[in-house]
Amino acid sequence: MSGKNLEIPGHVSLAPGAGGLQKVLVKTAWSSAEIYLHGAHVTGFQKKGEPPLLFMSAASEFTAGKPVRGGVPVIFPWFGAREGLPFHAFARITTWELKETSLLPNGAVTLRFILPDAENFHAEYLVTVAESLTLELDVGNTGDMDATFEACLHTYFQISGIDAISITGLAGTSYQDKVAGTTETQTADAIRISSEVDRVYPDTAATTEIEDPGFGRKIRIAKSGSNSTVVWNPWIDKSKRMPDFGDEEYLHMVCVESGNVAQNNVTLPPGGHAVMKVEISSERLLS
Ligand code: BG6
Repeated sequence: MSGKNLEIPGHVSLAPGAGGLQKVLVKTAWSSAEIYLHGAHVTGFQKKGEPPLLFMSAASEFTAGKPVRGGVPVIFPWFGAREGLPFHAFARITTWELKETSLLPNGAVTLRFILPDAENFHAEYLVTVAESLTLELDVGNTGDMDATFEACLHTYFQISGIDAISITGLAGTSYQDKVAGTTETQTADAIRISSEVDRVYPDTAATTEIEDPGFGRKIRIAKSGSNSTVVWNPWIDKSKRMPDFGDEEYLHMVCVESGNVAQNNVTLPPGGHAVMKVEISSERLLS
């Protein structure tokens, strides 16, 4: 990061964050946001007059080399386990470079991050803060052979209560149930969560919505260049096993993640690139 020239008075400022890690604070006419350079991790997005959109664990660590619990971890270039290597890969535990900030004529603010040392990839991440939050991960193959990667924007949403919400948009899609170890089909229109849920829905580019009557809002997750959706809530036992997550916090979060994982991994020819774009917006529910 080249320092103060990235600041935009009234809109973008740099500040020391938790654990001494550097963060960027963004303000627009509609919203505010907070992004750490560690992981290019969006740890906050809040529209004026609404509860925060993103859940952050009060027990999260903010330590170099360790993941942050909550917000939007950027999972790249693999998703899940890889023998001898970090779970969910290195992008979320690497300090990204903040390359550029801009205030657009419409009042939106964009931040452009670059992942240093991404092996044979060039990865850029564009975060746009406005009335909605837009995240774009652009991955290029800088090597001289085909290269394959997985990616996922592992978004934690703040909800009024896990028993109050329903998630729509995935009906008719089959999914891998990672808790049961089976493949199932989503028959119900709305997903309701009342036990541990860890599901990968492949081959879907559908927009999903989280309806949350307790907060009187509906969250919309619209995406392009992403063919997998992951839904996760750790429920009681797994919450207790996670040292950086409160025992009761599963009640107030759900992850609806947009990515290209497992069979939807992406293979790029030399010089090729792929963009995954996710726009997260919210609206008031009519009471
Ligand atoms: C989800 C995975 O995307 O991430 C889960 O499907 C995993 O299996 C979860 O438990 C959280 O992973 P981590 O490494 O952030 O604890």
